[in-house]
Amino acid sequence: MRHLVVIIVMIMVWLNGLIWLAKQVDPSTKYQSEVEYKYARYCAGCHGNNGEGNGRIGRFKRLDPADLTDSGLWDMHSDEQLLDSINAGKDDMPAFYYYLSDEEQREILAYIKEMFRP
Ligand code: HEC
Repeated sequence: MRHLVVIIVMIMVWLNGLIWLAKQVDPSTKYQSEVEYKYARYCAGCHGNNGEGNGRIGRFKRLDPADLTDSGLWDMHSDEQLLDSINAGKDDMPAFYYYLSDEEQREILAYIKEMFRP
């Protein structure tokens, strides 16, 4: 009887390890949604997790990514203009047409608007 308990516990530990491993292999499982993952992967390095433009790379002052929580940014640009910046790049911001389809770019724009627009 004792042996059985030990074996069951071992199997559970092993399964847990497998699930943990699978999560490490596919980082997208850390995020609630596909679009959240894409923002984290493609944009957050510069614009930061909270959109303020202070991501890992964005902190460098010479780069100065747009602060997505700044209402002025949203007031002064139409969706089409912002999409164009995402698609084709703007100054130090790289173009994303190569990595993200039009559809994905629209989803990300909707996401950052929802999350960061004051
Ligand atoms: C390498 C750093 C970097 C990455 C990665 C990056 N950006 Fe930017 N982003 C910038 C910089 C720098 C600006 C400011 C450009 C300017 O106004 O001259 C900017 C500006 C913007 C703007 C304002 C554009 C405008 O027309 O004024 C939006 C919206 C934006 N980024 C969204 C995104 C999204 C969405 C992603 C991910 C798909 C992304 N950025 C990835 C650096 C980056």
